[in-house]
Amino acid sequence: MELKEKIEALKKQQDAVILAHYYVSDEVQAIADYIGDSFYLSKLAVSLNAKTLVVCGVSFMGESAKILNPEKKVLLPDSRADCAMAHMITPEKVAQLRAEHPAAAVVCYINSTAELKTCSDVCVTSANALSIVRALPNQEIIFIPDENLGRHIAAQLPEKQFIFNDGRCPIHAKITPEDIDRAKDAHPGAPVLAHPECTPAVLAKADYIGSTSGILQYATDHADTQYIIATECGIGYKLRTQNPTKEFFFVEPLPVCEDMKFITLEKIAHVLETGEGEVTLEEAMRRRANAPLERMLALAK
Ligand code: 13P
Ligand code: SF4
Repeated sequence: MELKEKIEALKKQQDAVILAHYYVSDEVQAIADYIGDSFYLSKLAVSLNAKTLVVCGVSFMGESAKILNPEKKVLLPDSRADCAMAHMITPEKVAQLRAEHPAAAVVCYINSTAELKTCSDVCVTSANALSIVRALPNQEIIFIPDENLGRHIAAQLPEKQFIFNDGRCPIHAKITPEDIDRAKDAHPGAPVLAHPECTPAVLAKADYIGSTSGILQYATDHADTQYIIATECGIGYKLRTQNPTKEFFFVEPLPVCEDMKFITLEKIAHVLETGEGEVTLEEAMRRRANAPLERMLALAK
């Protein structure tokens, strides 16, 4: 039996659906039941009736799905797929920042470990961070772990004071303003669409800044026929299939999140067949990590 057919049969057997982030490989996105950004995937996980969720992405995505859906079986096809930024602050450091700023809210990017979520007041994703931080009553905001996203939000909320953490996505942080300049020289007139995990110097050169789904929406809604993309290359699959008459040029060197590429069709079939790769969390930790995620979902409504 072909691998795709095998996955289809196993899905039926296990009452499973496949959720994929835009950064996983094309072949995985092609067989997924749902594809989306971090916010969409966490919202969706709550509304699905299937008994098993196969989360094709990095570990914080599988963890978030499990935290929000303790009764469901959540499978991660490769446990090595991890987001480096998710570990870029310690709970001890968060406690120290809280002691220094007792009136501040701790706002935690969803790209974080379950343990970090337990130390936080609310989670955000790149798609909802601005509206959620704006809605918080706190004047002071401790933003963890991504400094670049934090600074991007802070620039739009001058009425609030931000405390940043020294953390970043290694893939987005590697994109330089010179990379953008070179792409603009090669494709004059093409708008630059950038993810807010890029550095402020790169974002200053962007025509649009948004989450992966925001970038996709922008390119779909606008009449331009060429775009320069400053985010991970996996988004190219949806950009191209959804906009077959448009051209997309990624910054060079090409931004690749190797962890996202750990997910393959073989591994999806393997976890469905064996039950390996199940995400498990100690219940007390799960409950404490659930509170900031639920608050995010409530505030984002
Ligand atoms: P999105 O929520 O925009 O999909 O971002 C997730 C991510 O990991 C970006 O590097
Ligand atoms: Fe994490 Fe960066 Fe990979 Fe996104 S692209 S999952 S932030 S390492």
